Amino acid sequence: MAADLAIGIHDLSFATTEFVLPHTTLAAHNGTDIGKYHVGIGLRSMSVPAADEDIVTMGAAAAAPIVARHGSDQIRTVVLATESSVDQSKSAGVYVHSLLGMPSSTRVVELKQACYGATAGLQFAAGLVHRDRTQRVLVIASDVSKYELDSPGEPTQGAAAAAMLVSADPALVRIEEPSGLFTADIMDFWRPNYLPTALVDGQDSIAAYLQALEGAWKDYTEQGGRALEEFRAFCYHQPFPKMATKAHRQLLRSSGHDSDDSRVLRDIGHTTDYNAAVGNSYTASMYLGLASLLESADDLTGQPIGLFSYGSGSVAEFFAGTVVPGYRAHLRAAAHQEAIARRRPVDYARYRELHGLSLPEDGGDHAVPPQTGGPYRLAALSGHKRIYQPR
Ligand code: CAA
Repeated sequence: MAADLAIGIHDLSFATTEFVLPHTTLAAHNGTDIGKYHVGIGLRSMSVPAADEDIVTMGAAAAAPIVARHGSDQIRTVVLATESSVDQSKSAGVYVHSLLGMPSSTRVVELKQACYGATAGLQFAAGLVHRDRTQRVLVIASDVSKYELDSPGEPTQGAAAAAMLVSADPALVRIEEPSGLFTADIMDFWRPNYLPTALVDGQDSIAAYLQALEGAWKDYTEQGGRALEEFRAFCYHQPFPKMATKAHRQLLRSSGHDSDDSRVLRDIGHTTDYNAAVGNSYTASMYLGLASLLESADDLTGQPIGLFSYGSGSVAEFFAGTVVPGYRAHLRAAAHQEAIARRRPVDYARYRELHGLSLPEDGGDHAVPPQTGGPYRLAALSGHKRIYQPR
């Protein structure tokens, strides 16, 4: 294993949407047995963005508490990872940088590779900090997951942003070398620029995820990574929480370990709480899982955590993080629970209306209806420009 340079996640914060659709409401509409949603895929509810919310407003809401706690003087780079981009040219991170009043002496960029983007951002950030240990990098993962109404993917929608401050001598999790990597040119899930909803072959995408896990784990092992039994917990990308169970069971089996329910629950049980309430937040999802684990598990001090990031198309990475002594004093459990609890439930008709909402494309002046109770909103469109404001 390479020398440990103590670089990693210094702070972690997430935000989600104004509205929530409980799966009981969706099940009542489409006649699905609620057991399929609650047990079969492991979801209880999904976050639904208000008309004036998007990846920028969620990203700013997630990052604001980090900037408030640490200041922005040492943050010379902002990386915003998303597959729900709002502009083909301008990085959504530039809007976030502006909303947070960050200094002009910052580089800001947007990254994309489906749900894997934020992990690329984290690794690139670690590289920048390695080059200059006084610098910090703000990595923001922000996504809205949207499938066609009445499609199999619909119950796995969701939305959230996770923000991480990456620094030397981190307060939460040290990111270790090596990583196990895997890339394959496949079409398991994708969204052409002209479509508002993703296309997916559900069962194929599950098989592709599992194949990528196998490939990334094999590479991790070949690169001299830790043995499986060294890990205290495993945190997976969660398109739906049950996917983490499928993935971990396969990893255990393929490496000759017991894969019974109690072992799987012990290893991943604390990682699914937030994702079960939020739904798929694409590139933010694994980091909501990490927040859930750190905030709800017994003391993890000094324990290695296995992290598996998967982005369809596909790119995957398996890597390890070690939990830092004193981490508990830096967690944001109360704020995260409040972000989940404050969402306002919508009925099916309102959800459908929000799902079908599209912003005007005529370049005129349009105010966006105020709906969010969050700290930032998309206030208007004018001359094809998006105008964001603190609420
Ligand atoms: N009680 C309990 N369990 C039930 C049940 C009931 N009444 N009815 C069904 N189930 C179980 C099924 O047995 C099944 O469990 P297993 O997978 O363990 O066999 C589970 O509920 C789901 O049932 P189906 O497979 O019949 O469900 P489906 O055909 O409607 O589709 C899905 C499920 C493929 C996940 C679909 O929701 C989908 O297409 N989702 C979007 C794609 C996706 O998330 N892919 C994941 C990998 S790709 C990725 O990770 C990137 C990303 O973020 C998109």
